[in-house]
Amino acid sequence: MTLRSVILGTGSALPRRRVDNAELATMVDTSDEWIVERTGIRTRYVAGEGESTTTLAAEASRHALEMAGLQAAGIDLIILATATPDQTFPASATTVQAALGINDCIAFDVAAVCSGFLYAMTVADNMLRGGAGKTALVIGAETFSRILDWEDRTTCVLFGDGAGAAVLRAEETPAEGGRGILASKLHADGRHNGLLHVDGGPSSTGTVGKVRMKGQDVFRHAVVNLAQVMKEVLDVAGLSTSDIDWVVPHQANARILDATARKLGLDPAQVVVTVDRHANTSAASVPLALDTAVRDGRIKQGDLVVLEAMGGGFTWGACVLRY
Ligand code: ACO
Repeated sequence: MTLRSVILGTGSALPRRRVDNAELATMVDTSDEWIVERTGIRTRYVAGEGESTTTLAAEASRHALEMAGLQAAGIDLIILATATPDQTFPASATTVQAALGINDCIAFDVAAVCSGFLYAMTVADNMLRGGAGKTALVIGAETFSRILDWEDRTTCVLFGDGAGAAVLRAEETPAEGGRGILASKLHADGRHNGLLHVDGGPSSTGTVGKVRMKGQDVFRHAVVNLAQVMKEVLDVAGLSTSDIDWVVPHQANARILDATARKLGLDPAQVVVTVDRHANTSAASVPLALDTAVRDGRIKQGDLVVLEAMGGGFTWGACVLRY
């Protein structure tokens, strides 16, 4: 038997307001046709009054706890991945902790932008297996709408708001064929900071800043890095692409998803796609897509699932697990 972090439940949350491409075309010089052809995005959700990264994170967490059949009080560790915290400090994880009525547990945020959920899962997995606790709540939550330049058509059409969460528990599982996280691999290369960044921050400009991106450069790096890191993580787990049941990728662009699947020789039907509905929700995109495929019955207990993401930094990573 081997101690592994097993996903017991998933949950997600979206803001009330859905914005389609036609509505965006009334705000900037764009069209439904351009957005669908270049990105596959048709709609995204945008947070309104009373909605924030932590309200969405808390709602997603409640759904995940409900599926896991656990009370919030049973959580030992909360890790929230976000690039859009409610405040510079305290960590948004502590706001979610209070909203869930948990009085004492470990709670902190991680910042790895779109790879944030992969980073958070890996940290949680290592802490659980290291004995820091038995049960963790891992969340990816974002309100990118609040850091978009709504006059820049090259970025504002690409992103959306939302949250996803997973409850992990350390369990002894059979070494062969057992459930849980089998391997994770993370990377970062800060030389590419300037290709995708926010042009503000508390210690630089004293302002929040807006998202800036050199889309074509990001695209090129994404396809190469994602295919590579998926091969790497499968190697670590002693598996090959033919063992994969489902890939749950970061939802940045349908063309990146297609190109990555092709590079790995995967059937496009094995790739969970939600970018058409949610757009790019940064750290929330992987857990939102995971929850979608778990709840619609595609991902079942025992399936081999690969999660992957790439984001600003650049940061990127992948994780292979038996659901
Ligand atoms: N509507 C209409 N026209 C537009 C829009 C828009 N929303 N945005 C740009 N254009 C125009 C450009 O101005 C350009 O016009 P020009 O030829 O007259 O100069 C033309 O469309 C082509 O622009 P490109 O940037 O070359 O378009 P491209 O095919 O590269 O698509 C896109 C742009 C969708 C951003 C693509 O590069 C991409 O998806 N890149 C990856 C971005 C990404 O995934 N980022 C996130 C990953 S990491 C993370 O998630 C944080």
